[in-house]
Amino acid sequence: MTVTHPSTSAPAAGTRIRVAIAGATGFAGQELVKLLSRHPVAQLTVAMSSAAGSPTRHIPALTRIWDDPIVPLDIDRLCAEAEVVFLALPEAASAEVGAALVARGVRVVDLSGAFRLRDDHARHKFYPATPVLPEGTMYGLAEHDRSGFRAARLVSCPGCYPTAALIATQPLADAGLLVGPVIVDAKSGISGAGKTPSDRTHFSENHGSVSAYGLFSHRHTPEIEQELGHAVTFVPHLVPLDRGILETIYATLKPGTKDAEVSAVMHAAYADAPFVRLVGSHLPEIKHVAHTNFCDVGWKVDEHTGRIILVSCLDNLVKGAAGQAIQNFNLAVGIDEKTGLL
Ligand SMILES: NC(=O)c1ccc[n+]([C@@H]2O[C@H](COP(=O)([O-])OP(=O)(O)OC[C@H]3O[C@@H](n4cnc5c(N)ncnc54)[C@H](OP(=O)(O)O)[C@@H]3O)[C@@H](O)[C@H]2O)c1
Repeated sequence: MTVTHPSTSAPAAGTRIRVAIAGATGFAGQELVKLLSRHPVAQLTVAMSSAAGSPTRHIPALTRIWDDPIVPLDIDRLCAEAEVVFLALPEAASAEVGAALVARGVRVVDLSGAFRLRDDHARHKFYPATPVLPEGTMYGLAEHDRSGFRAARLVSCPGCYPTAALIATQPLADAGLLVGPVIVDAKSGISGAGKTPSDRTHFSENHGSVSAYGLFSHRHTPEIEQELGHAVTFVPHLVPLDRGILETIYATLKPGTKDAEVSAVMHAAYADAPFVRLVGSHLPEIKHVAHTNFCDVGWKVDEHTGRIILVSCLDNLVKGAAGQAIQNFNLAVGIDEKTGLL
């Protein structure tokens, strides 16, 4: 089949780019609807739920934001009505729909983990529904590298936990300041698990409790290690909040590293990053980033022991999902990455 790719040049002034959402009834998808409906360049043409859904659905929370019905998944319609499709689907569905859209010349911004791992062995283990990565797939963490977005056919958005971990640690790793393993102690609000409650995420179980899970087995561990190039011990916890992630990250610095050098590296890395707020020793809090696309990072260095503790915070549904996806869309279509977000 011959595929004609839509232009990757920036849109002319006043031009709207037709976009669609698959998975619009989910937590991340609803956040996408809210943000895209007021985006000045993206024109949301259709929002879809699962193929098994009833013919049309309305989400009360989206009244006067998106009053069109949400319709069952239909790949032909996505191809007909959108130049770029946002996928906020479970991994297996994303693997199938994302590959089909790319093959038909539609650009994709995927929020799932289906296309994040480049190593075949790791991907087969954690995302078995993705046998190969479609040509033109990129891992889209803008704060680390903005160079590949314009040419990408599929932007795979980082996971919520990896986004917070990588923004905090990648500049130090790139500067060669980290030695040995990195320990990421993470706490997440319950919306990170999606809208379907389980025994663990049910309100009655989660309210008034804190629990660790996924020890040595969480799929975000290989993702952080892939991007960081360091061994990582990652321990996620569920906390009784609806949204937000806070990570406390423990690492060892190259011998002799001073606080001032850490500060210089971090500020140089994020001088042009509109969504990273370096708060230094005023450690960040979930309330300060909730409902925003910011990732706040603070740290303290103990020069005596050579240890650094970083604290990184974001909203899992915005910077960890829908907001980051729109930031990546903006870069992919050649407009200011802050568009519709700040
Ligand atoms: N929640 C987060 O904080 C977060 C952060 C980063 C990334 N992500 C990723 O983003 C994706 C969506 O997460 P979420 O939390 O929004 O999930 P969710 O609340 O469970 O929503 C899933 C969405 O996908 C649809 N869906 C389910 N099965 C489908 C299928 N087989 N085919 C087509 N559509 C299907 C659902 O439609 P129905 O309403 O019809 O079931 C719903 O719209 C996941 O891959 C997740 O890992 C989530």
